[in-house]
Amino acid sequence: MTDASASQPALGGSPAEVAAVLEANGYLADDGLATIIHLAIALGRPLLLEGEAGVGKTEVAKVLSAAGGGELIRLQCYEGIDASQALYEWDYTRQLLHLRTAEASGDAAGRADELEHELYSERFLVKRPLLRALDPVAGVPPVLLIDEVDRADDEFEAFLLEVLSDYSVTIPELGTYTASKPPIVIITSNRTRDVHDALKRRCLYHWVEHPDFERETRIIELKSTGASAELARQVAAAATSMRELGLYKPPGVAETIDWATALATLGAVEIDEQIVTATIGTVLKYREDQARVASHGIDQLVASLKRD
Ligand SMILES: Nc1ncnc2c1ncn2[C@@H]1O[C@H](COP(=O)(O)OP(=O)(O)O)[C@@H](O)[C@H]1O
Ligand SMILES: [Mg+2]
Repeated sequence: MTDASASQPALGGSPAEVAAVLEANGYLADDGLATIIHLAIALGRPLLLEGEAGVGKTEVAKVLSAAGGGELIRLQCYEGIDASQALYEWDYTRQLLHLRTAEASGDAAGRADELEHELYSERFLVKRPLLRALDPVAGVPPVLLIDEVDRADDEFEAFLLEVLSDYSVTIPELGTYTASKPPIVIITSNRTRDVHDALKRRCLYHWVEHPDFERETRIIELKSTGASAELARQVAAAATSMRELGLYKPPGVAETIDWATALATLGAVEIDEQIVTATIGTVLKYREDQARVASHGIDQLVASLKRD
Protein backbone atom coordinates (compact mmCIF):
# COMPACT_ATOMS: atom_id res chain seq x y z
CA MET A 1 0.00 0.00 0.00
CA THR A 2 1.30 3.46 -0.81
CA ASP A 3 1.49 6.06 1.89
CA ALA A 4 -1.08 8.79 1.24
CA SER A 5 1.30 11.40 2.58
CA ALA A 6 4.09 10.51 0.19
CA SER A 7 2.93 12.95 -2.49
CA GLN A 8 2.37 15.76 0.03
CA PRO A 9 5.10 18.02 1.35
CA ALA A 10 5.92 16.97 4.91
CA LEU A 11 4.31 18.93 7.72
CA GLY A 12 7.32 20.45 8.84
CA GLY A 13 10.71 20.35 10.38
CA SER A 14 10.55 24.07 11.16
CA PRO A 15 8.08 26.94 11.57
CA ALA A 16 9.11 28.24 8.15
CA GLU A 17 8.34 24.87 6.57
CA VAL A 18 4.93 24.78 8.27
CA ALA A 19 4.19 28.29 6.97
CA ALA A 20 5.24 27.26 3.46
CA VAL A 21 3.10 24.11 3.47
CA LEU A 22 0.08 26.03 4.79
CA GLU A 23 0.59 28.71 2.15
CA ALA A 24 0.77 26.08 -0.56
CA ASN A 25 -2.69 25.05 0.66
CA GLY A 26 -4.12 28.57 0.67
CA TYR A 27 -3.55 29.60 4.28
CA LEU A 28 -1.34 32.55 5.15
CA ALA A 29 -0.07 32.21 8.72
CA ASP A 30 2.08 34.73 10.57
CA ASP A 31 5.27 33.66 12.35
CA GLY A 32 3.62 33.23 15.74
CA LEU A 33 0.94 30.91 14.44
CA ALA A 34 3.34 28.91 12.25
CA THR A 35 5.68 28.43 15.20
CA ILE A 36 3.01 27.22 17.60
CA ILE A 37 1.59 24.82 15.00
CA HIS A 38 5.08 23.45 14.40
CA LEU A 39 5.58 22.96 18.15
CA ALA A 40 2.19 21.32 18.64
CA ILE A 41 3.01 18.78 15.94
CA ALA A 42 6.62 18.25 17.05
CA LEU A 43 5.68 17.83 20.73
CA GLY A 44 2.48 15.90 20.07
CA ARG A 45 0.36 18.34 22.08
CA PRO A 46 -3.15 19.62 21.37
CA LEU A 47 -3.28 23.23 20.18
CA LEU A 48 -5.91 25.58 21.57
CA LEU A 49 -6.62 28.46 19.21
CA GLU A 50 -8.61 31.31 20.66
CA GLY A 51 -9.78 34.45 18.92
CA GLU A 52 -12.73 36.36 17.52
CA ALA A 53 -15.03 34.76 14.98
CA GLY A 54 -13.67 34.74 11.45
CA VAL A 55 -9.95 35.08 12.16
CA GLY A 56 -9.11 31.70 10.62
CA LYS A 57 -9.08 29.24 13.54
CA THR A 58 -11.20 26.44 12.08
CA GLU A 59 -9.45 26.82 8.75
CA VAL A 60 -6.12 25.87 10.37
CA ALA A 61 -7.37 22.34 11.03
CA LYS A 62 -8.86 21.99 7.55
CA VAL A 63 -5.65 23.13 5.92
CA LEU A 64 -3.45 20.93 8.15
CA SER A 65 -5.52 17.98 7.04
CA ALA A 66 -5.23 18.93 3.39
CA ALA A 67 -1.50 19.56 3.80
CA GLY A 68 -0.54 16.53 5.86
CA GLY A 69 -2.87 13.99 4.36
CA GLY A 70 -4.46 12.98 7.68
CA GLU A 71 -8.23 12.72 7.54
CA LEU A 72 -10.08 15.70 9.08
CA ILE A 73 -12.31 14.52 11.91
CA ARG A 74 -14.52 17.29 13.22
CA LEU A 75 -16.22 17.43 16.56
CA GLN A 76 -18.49 20.47 16.52
CA CYS A 77 -19.30 21.45 20.11
CA TYR A 78 -22.67 22.84 21.15
CA GLU A 79 -24.63 23.50 24.28
CA GLY A 80 -25.61 20.20 25.86
CA ILE A 81 -23.16 18.00 23.93
CA ASP A 82 -22.23 14.95 25.99
CA ALA A 83 -19.77 12.08 25.93
CA SER A 84 -21.97 9.71 23.92
CA GLN A 85 -22.31 12.22 21.08
CA ALA A 86 -18.58 12.75 21.05
CA LEU A 87 -17.37 9.18 21.59
CA TYR A 88 -19.74 6.36 20.68
CA GLU A 89 -23.30 5.14 20.87
CA TRP A 90 -24.90 1.76 20.46
CA ASP A 91 -27.25 1.47 17.52
CA TYR A 92 -30.32 0.39 19.51
CA THR A 93 -32.61 0.07 16.52
CA ARG A 94 -30.33 -2.33 14.73
CA GLN A 95 -29.58 -4.22 17.95
CA LEU A 96 -33.29 -4.69 18.50
CA LEU A 97 -33.81 -5.83 14.96
CA HIS A 98 -31.00 -8.34 15.30
CA LEU A 99 -32.53 -9.65 18.52
CA ARG A 100 -36.00 -9.96 17.02
CA THR A 101 -34.70 -11.75 13.98
CA ALA A 102 -32.78 -14.19 16.17
CA GLU A 103 -35.87 -14.78 18.30
CA ALA A 104 -38.17 -15.24 15.35
CA SER A 105 -35.91 -17.79 13.72
CA GLY A 106 -35.61 -19.71 16.98
CA ASP A 107 -31.92 -18.95 16.88
CA ALA A 108 -31.92 -17.20 20.26
CA ALA A 109 -32.98 -20.17 22.32
CA GLY A 110 -30.38 -21.28 24.83
CA ARG A 111 -27.67 -18.87 23.80
CA ALA A 112 -28.46 -15.65 25.65
CA ASP A 113 -24.81 -14.94 26.53
CA GLU A 114 -23.61 -15.40 23.01
CA LEU A 115 -26.37 -13.19 21.70
CA GLU A 116 -25.52 -10.43 24.15
CA HIS A 117 -21.92 -10.66 23.01
CA GLU A 118 -23.07 -10.25 19.42
CA LEU A 119 -25.25 -7.28 20.29
CA TYR A 120 -22.38 -5.45 21.93
CA SER A 121 -19.84 -5.99 19.20
CA GLU A 122 -18.28 -3.44 16.86
CA ARG A 123 -20.99 -4.28 14.36
CA PHE A 124 -23.53 -2.28 16.38
CA LEU A 125 -21.15 0.40 17.58
CA VAL A 126 -21.62 3.89 16.17
CA LYS A 127 -18.26 5.59 16.36
CA ARG A 128 -18.43 9.32 16.97
CA PRO A 129 -15.55 11.71 16.16
CA LEU A 130 -13.36 11.19 19.26
CA LEU A 131 -13.39 7.42 18.96
CA ARG A 132 -12.74 7.61 15.23
CA ALA A 133 -9.73 9.81 15.92
CA LEU A 134 -8.32 7.28 18.41
CA ASP A 135 -9.13 4.14 16.50
CA PRO A 136 -5.74 2.92 15.35
CA VAL A 137 -5.50 2.87 11.59
CA ALA A 138 -2.41 2.36 9.54
CA GLY A 139 -0.79 5.40 7.96
CA VAL A 140 -1.15 9.07 8.70
CA PRO A 141 -2.75 10.07 12.02
CA PRO A 142 -5.90 12.15 11.51
CA VAL A 143 -6.38 15.81 12.29
CA LEU A 144 -8.94 16.08 15.08
CA LEU A 145 -10.78 19.41 15.12
CA ILE A 146 -12.64 20.12 18.35
CA ASP A 147 -14.48 23.20 17.17
CA GLU A 148 -15.92 25.95 19.39
CA VAL A 149 -15.25 24.22 22.68
CA ASP A 150 -16.54 27.32 24.52
CA ARG A 151 -20.07 26.28 23.52
CA ALA A 152 -19.85 23.04 25.53
CA ASP A 153 -20.18 22.93 29.32
CA ASP A 154 -17.60 22.31 32.07
CA GLU A 155 -18.42 18.66 32.42
CA PHE A 156 -17.76 18.04 28.76
CA GLU A 157 -14.48 19.91 28.99
CA ALA A 158 -13.40 17.66 31.87
CA PHE A 159 -14.29 14.64 29.77
CA LEU A 160 -12.25 15.99 26.84
CA LEU A 161 -9.28 16.49 29.13
CA GLU A 162 -9.47 12.86 30.17
CA VAL A 163 -9.48 11.65 26.57
CA LEU A 164 -6.70 14.01 25.53
CA SER A 165 -4.41 13.08 28.41
CA ASP A 166 -3.77 9.54 27.26
CA TYR A 167 -5.46 9.31 23.85
CA SER A 168 -7.26 6.22 24.94
CA VAL A 169 -10.83 5.30 25.72
CA THR A 170 -12.38 2.23 27.31
CA ILE A 171 -15.69 0.82 26.16
CA PRO A 172 -16.79 -1.60 28.89
CA GLU A 173 -18.19 -4.20 26.47
CA LEU A 174 -15.31 -4.07 24.01
CA GLY A 175 -12.11 -3.00 25.71
CA THR A 176 -9.69 -0.14 25.31
CA TYR A 177 -9.05 1.83 22.15
CA THR A 178 -5.68 3.55 22.11
CA ALA A 179 -4.37 5.69 19.28
CA SER A 180 -1.28 4.05 17.82
CA LYS A 181 -0.11 7.55 16.89
CA PRO A 182 -1.88 10.49 18.53
CA PRO A 183 -3.89 12.64 16.14
CA ILE A 184 -3.00 16.27 15.50
CA VAL A 185 -5.52 18.02 17.75
CA ILE A 186 -6.78 21.54 17.08
CA ILE A 187 -9.22 22.97 19.62
CA THR A 188 -10.88 26.30 18.84
CA SER A 189 -12.71 28.76 21.04
CA ASN A 190 -14.45 32.03 20.20
CA ARG A 191 -14.04 32.88 23.87
CA THR A 192 -17.69 33.31 24.74
CA ARG A 193 -16.42 31.94 28.07
CA ASP A 194 -12.99 31.03 29.39
CA VAL A 195 -11.66 27.55 28.82
CA HIS A 196 -10.56 25.94 32.09
CA ASP A 197 -6.96 26.03 33.22
CA ALA A 198 -6.74 22.23 33.38
CA LEU A 199 -7.51 21.90 29.68
CA LYS A 200 -5.24 24.82 28.86
CA ARG A 201 -2.41 23.15 30.76
CA ARG A 202 -2.73 20.13 28.52
CA CYS A 203 -2.60 22.28 25.36
CA LEU A 204 -0.33 24.74 23.66
CA TYR A 205 -2.13 28.05 23.28
CA HIS A 206 -2.29 30.78 20.66
CA TRP A 207 -4.46 33.87 20.42
CA VAL A 208 -5.31 34.40 16.76
CA GLU A 209 -5.51 38.06 15.79
CA HIS A 210 -7.14 39.49 12.73
CA PRO A 211 -4.49 39.50 10.00
CA ASP A 212 -2.56 42.71 9.56
CA PHE A 213 -3.19 44.85 6.49
CA GLU A 214 -0.50 43.28 4.27
CA ARG A 215 -1.52 39.72 5.02
CA GLU A 216 -5.23 40.41 4.68
CA THR A 217 -4.61 42.03 1.30
CA ARG A 218 -2.83 38.86 0.16
CA ILE A 219 -5.58 36.62 1.60
CA ILE A 220 -8.23 38.61 -0.29
CA GLU A 221 -6.22 38.41 -3.50
CA LEU A 222 -5.88 34.67 -3.01
CA LYS A 223 -9.42 33.84 -1.98
CA SER A 224 -11.81 36.37 -3.47
CA THR A 225 -13.11 36.04 -6.98
CA GLY A 226 -12.15 38.73 -9.43
CA ALA A 227 -10.85 41.44 -7.10
CA SER A 228 -7.92 43.46 -8.43
CA ALA A 229 -4.84 44.05 -6.29
CA GLU A 230 -5.94 47.64 -5.67
CA LEU A 231 -9.46 46.61 -4.65
CA ALA A 232 -8.03 43.96 -2.30
CA ARG A 233 -5.82 46.61 -0.73
CA GLN A 234 -8.73 49.00 -0.22
CA VAL A 235 -11.02 46.33 1.22
CA ALA A 236 -8.31 45.24 3.67
CA ALA A 237 -7.71 48.85 4.71
CA ALA A 238 -11.43 49.51 5.14
CA ALA A 239 -11.81 46.34 7.24
CA THR A 240 -8.88 47.38 9.42
CA SER A 241 -10.54 50.78 10.02
CA MET A 242 -13.91 49.18 10.77
CA ARG A 243 -12.31 46.93 13.39
CA GLU A 244 -11.18 50.02 15.26
CA LEU A 245 -14.75 51.29 15.72
CA GLY A 246 -15.70 48.96 18.57
CA LEU A 247 -18.35 47.14 16.54
CA TYR A 248 -20.52 44.42 18.00
CA LYS A 249 -19.28 42.01 15.32
CA PRO A 250 -16.17 43.33 13.60
CA PRO A 251 -15.67 41.90 10.12
CA GLY A 252 -13.77 38.61 9.98
CA VAL A 253 -11.64 37.43 7.08
CA ALA A 254 -14.56 35.52 5.58
CA GLU A 255 -16.52 38.79 5.41
CA THR A 256 -13.72 40.76 3.79
CA ILE A 257 -13.30 38.01 1.18
CA ASP A 258 -17.05 38.12 0.52
CA TRP A 259 -17.02 41.90 0.33
CA ALA A 260 -14.20 41.98 -2.21
CA THR A 261 -15.97 39.32 -4.28
CA ALA A 262 -19.22 41.30 -4.15
CA LEU A 263 -17.47 44.51 -5.20
CA ALA A 264 -15.71 42.75 -8.07
CA THR A 265 -19.01 41.16 -9.13
CA LEU A 266 -20.48 44.65 -9.41
CA GLY A 267 -17.54 45.63 -11.59
CA ALA A 268 -15.89 47.92 -9.05
CA VAL A 269 -12.18 48.50 -9.44
CA GLU A 270 -12.00 50.71 -6.39
CA ILE A 271 -14.14 51.70 -3.44
CA ASP A 272 -16.32 54.79 -3.37
CA GLU A 273 -18.95 56.00 -0.95
CA GLN A 274 -21.91 54.84 -3.00
CA ILE A 275 -20.66 51.30 -3.53
CA VAL A 276 -19.68 50.89 0.12
CA THR A 277 -23.22 51.85 1.14
CA ALA A 278 -24.69 49.47 -1.40
CA THR A 279 -22.57 46.47 -0.38
CA ILE A 280 -22.21 47.01 3.37
CA GLY A 281 -24.46 44.01 4.06
CA THR A 282 -21.79 41.64 2.76
CA VAL A 283 -19.36 42.74 5.45
CA LEU A 284 -21.42 43.96 8.43
CA LYS A 285 -24.31 41.75 9.48
CA TYR A 286 -25.76 43.83 12.32
CA ARG A 287 -27.89 46.89 11.77
CA GLU A 288 -26.26 48.65 14.73
CA ASP A 289 -22.79 48.05 13.27
CA GLN A 290 -23.88 49.42 9.89
CA ALA A 291 -25.33 52.47 11.64
CA ARG A 292 -22.14 53.01 13.59
CA VAL A 293 -19.98 52.91 10.46
CA ALA A 294 -22.40 55.26 8.72
CA SER A 295 -22.43 57.72 11.61
CA HIS A 296 -18.66 57.64 11.67
CA GLY A 297 -18.78 58.76 8.03
CA ILE A 298 -18.41 56.47 5.04
CA ASP A 299 -17.03 59.41 3.09
CA GLN A 300 -14.23 59.71 5.64
CA LEU A 301 -13.58 55.98 5.51
CA VAL A 302 -13.29 56.13 1.74
CA ALA A 303 -11.13 59.25 1.83
CA SER A 304 -8.73 57.62 4.28
CA LEU A 305 -8.27 54.65 1.91
CA LYS A 306 -7.21 56.95 -0.89
CA ARG A 307 -4.69 58.75 1.29
CA ASP A 308 -2.77 55.58 2.24
N1 LIG B 1 -4.77 33.31 7.36
C1 LIG B 1 -5.69 32.99 6.44
N2 LIG B 1 -5.31 32.59 5.21
C2 LIG B 1 -6.24 32.26 4.28
N3 LIG B 1 -7.58 32.30 4.49
C3 LIG B 1 -8.01 32.67 5.70
C4 LIG B 1 -7.09 33.02 6.73
N4 LIG B 1 -7.79 33.35 7.84
C5 LIG B 1 -9.09 33.22 7.51
N5 LIG B 1 -9.23 32.80 6.23
C6 LIG B 1 -10.50 32.61 5.52
O1 LIG B 1 -11.54 33.08 6.35
C7 LIG B 1 -12.58 32.11 6.48
C8 LIG B 1 -13.05 32.11 7.92
O2 LIG B 1 -12.12 31.46 8.73
P1 LIG B 1 -12.54 30.44 9.89
O3 LIG B 1 -11.40 29.52 10.10
O4 LIG B 1 -13.86 29.84 9.61
O5 LIG B 1 -12.67 31.45 11.12
P2 LIG B 1 -12.92 31.11 12.65
O6 LIG B 1 -12.92 29.62 12.82
O7 LIG B 1 -11.79 31.77 13.39
O8 LIG B 1 -14.24 31.74 12.98
C9 LIG B 1 -11.98 30.80 6.04
O9 LIG B 1 -12.90 30.06 5.30
C10 LIG B 1 -10.80 31.19 5.17
O10 LIG B 1 -11.19 31.18 3.82
MG1 LIG C 1 -14.58 28.52 13.43
